[in-house]
Amino acid sequence: MTESRTALQIVEGIDLSGKVCVITGASSGLGREAARALAAAGAHVILAARNTDALAEAARWIQAEVPDARTSTVHLDLTSLASVRAAATTIREASPVIHILMNNAGVMFTPFSRTKDGFEIQIGTNHFAHFELTRLLTTQLAAAAGARVIVLSSGGHVLGDVDFDDPNWEHRDYDKFVAYGASKTANILHAVEADRRLCELGIRAYAVHPGTVATSLARYMSRTDFSQLRKYAVANSAARGESTNGYLDFTTPEHGAATQVWAAVSPELADQGGLYLEDCRVSETVAPYARDAERAAQLWALSEKICAAS
Ligand SMILES: NC(=O)c1ccc[n+]([C@@H]2O[C@H](COP(=O)([O-])OP(=O)(O)OC[C@H]3O[C@@H](n4cnc5c(N)ncnc54)[C@H](OP(=O)(O)O)[C@@H]3O)[C@@H](O)[C@H]2O)c1
Repeated sequence: MTESRTALQIVEGIDLSGKVCVITGASSGLGREAARALAAAGAHVILAARNTDALAEAARWIQAEVPDARTSTVHLDLTSLASVRAAATTIREASPVIHILMNNAGVMFTPFSRTKDGFEIQIGTNHFAHFELTRLLTTQLAAAAGARVIVLSSGGHVLGDVDFDDPNWEHRDYDKFVAYGASKTANILHAVEADRRLCELGIRAYAVHPGTVATSLARYMSRTDFSQLRKYAVANSAARGESTNGYLDFTTPEHGAATQVWAAVSPELADQGGLYLEDCRVSETVAPYARDAERAAQLWALSEKICAAS
């Protein structure tokens, strides 16, 4: 069943005053909506994104929606580890304690390009940069004694697995669908291993599929891409034993952001982690390769090595 609550409804009765939340990609879509909900619950929300004007506009919008909201903005360009490191320093200076880190920013089905550090753009933006940001904020998360790291993945992880021999597409012809799938698989593996390693510091990690949400994420998609994705959705629904008319069933950011906000605040998730969440519940629809503990550890080691070398 699809989640019918909005992100704002999820935080009803939840008091986050005194808590600090960092959200990447907070300048639009799901990130902006999640920021509004967490601010409405009383948290100090640090909005991070690359477009300074859009970031300021998002902060103004949240203030208009939630007059007593407490927000700060941080410039963060995930296509540059130098920018990630500078943003982490700014965030650490702003707050010695972080209760919720929402690794939300992402790109999808982009034409082939590379980040400033030479990573393929989708896994570089969606995974490696967030891996480095999380690593750099671990002390502040541990200081919360009960922090949560929420990693936005996608049901689209089934489009592709991480190729450990060629994570940055140096030896294969590029497939933007497989590359997105690999980056979203990496997001789940990151949550699995982050939870295993960091739970002793009181940090729990979750991967989230938000549903199919009408946002600007689809900006790189052509008509042909949409019809290809519809075919895939039909095949995927059939594999899950569900019927579909072949049309993508879009929801709004208000509803789409519910699961990531639920992941951040739900008491039901206390003492649990490393889970894949969908429709405000634990979901089993994750591909076996994306929840494999050994592969999660392997990706962690690879990410550490790749980021340390850049
Ligand atoms: N919408 C869906 O149906 C759906 C489904 C499954 C998963 N997701 C996941 O949900 C997350 C949020 O997506 P959305 O739907 O809210 O899309 P969106 O509206 O396009 O928002 C993405 C955000 O990420 C930011 N971003 C992109 N590249 C960045 C970079 N290099 N550095 C810093 N920020 C960057 C964008 O900023 P700019 O505007 O400056 O690019 C924007 O603020 C993504 O991780 C996506 O994979 C979405």
